[in-house]
Amino acid sequence: MDKIIVRGCGPLSGTIPISGAKNATLPALAATLLTDQSVHLSNIPHLLDVTTMLELLGQHGSAITVDERLGVEIDNHRINNFLAPYDLVCTMRASILVMGPLLARYGQADVSLPGGCAIGSRPVNLHIDGLRAMGAEISISEGYIHAHAKRLHGARIVMDPVTVTGTENLLMAATLAKGRTLLENAAKEPEVVDLANFLTKMGARIQGAGTSTIIVDGVDTLHGARHRIMPDRIETATFMVAAAVTYGDIVLTGTSAEFLAFPIQKLLEAGVEVEEDIGRESLRVRCAHQLRGVNLETSPYPGFPTDIQAQMLVLNSIAEGSSSVAETIFENRFMHVSELQRLGADIQVVGNVAHVRGMSKLRGAPVMATDLRASASLVLAGLAAEGETVISRIYHIDRGYERIEEKLLALGADIQRISG
Ligand code: UD1
Repeated sequence: MDKIIVRGCGPLSGTIPISGAKNATLPALAATLLTDQSVHLSNIPHLLDVTTMLELLGQHGSAITVDERLGVEIDNHRINNFLAPYDLVCTMRASILVMGPLLARYGQADVSLPGGCAIGSRPVNLHIDGLRAMGAEISISEGYIHAHAKRLHGARIVMDPVTVTGTENLLMAATLAKGRTLLENAAKEPEVVDLANFLTKMGARIQGAGTSTIIVDGVDTLHGARHRIMPDRIETATFMVAAAVTYGDIVLTGTSAEFLAFPIQKLLEAGVEVEEDIGRESLRVRCAHQLRGVNLETSPYPGFPTDIQAQMLVLNSIAEGSSSVAETIFENRFMHVSELQRLGADIQVVGNVAHVRGMSKLRGAPVMATDLRASASLVLAGLAAEGETVISRIYHIDRGYERIEEKLLALGADIQRISG
């Protein structure tokens, strides 16, 4: 199994490109199942999760062509298999996103139940309840969700708690349902808006994406379209924290501050400087003074993203002062804390709050990655630590960060991947 070795090496500097958003790519790929015409998606990140989704589409019968410019052409006029098998769904929960499109267009979907994961139980009851409200007959047996419908119909669906992939699944299903669907307490994440924009290009009739009520008037068919995936705001924020914790000065291109108001606010409070050049689609991030710890609480968009919580714990660990980080989205998303403690971080978790006493001198140690964002936090901690940090189970990071060690090397990091 691959490992990453990081050695603390002082300030990072230089320019790197930000990739397309993983969490916008996965629903967009699933959405291609809604039409039998050819669809072109660009700015697709080269990630393990994207490969898994392409493999899943391939099993359904999609013809996929990938070009050198990170574009994917998908032709779905030969879909002949409606099963999303356990071996793919268990490696990537977002596989559940094929359920809405398959059911809406082909009247059938058999999707493995995703089960629990490292950050909590993560049920999919709201996906199932919503599709049932739209007329689907759904049974669960032998670990699979079996869904059938002649044609879905519009419905008023209230999701509680707010769910990102749940909103996306129901939004996709509603585009081909008969009549009007109201999705209430819908997720407002920018990736939901990116999906709605893509569906609209395919001929869907959607209003209110980005607000808590999305209205969809179903149409009979959708057509082919071209769409460029939005930049990855979580990758952007991760590199911003990398600049902060190494007291570096880096420029991120192909991205923007638009969807990062809360994280940027927290970085500014911590003493980090952030400058946006909108014309050049770039952000310059630097930190020249001692970091200050910041209190934060994760919440659905536009609040502070849970996917940037682990990275901010690293920042708080080496910053001046005490701080607290509350996780309100996932029940068990502090697995990285015990690994950060191995590096010397002074963090105590009480309930859903991590209390940090800052100014820890982090020292390299062997650690283990437990999930995608936790792995990113361990890389950041390794960059800020003295000595060598060896991170095992690094495959998690390849699910969501494109060429992370190459990008960090380009910024002057001392980082190396070893196989075996
Ligand atoms: C998505 C993101 C993930 C991010 C998360 C929260 C993708 C592919 N993944 O995950 O990176 O961390 O949003 O911003 O976009 N819930 C239920 N029932 C359901 C569905 C969800 O109770 O049917 C609960 C979950 O257990 C969790 C909360 O709702 O406590 C939010 O989860 P959700 O927004 O669904 O996360 P994902 O869409 O899986």
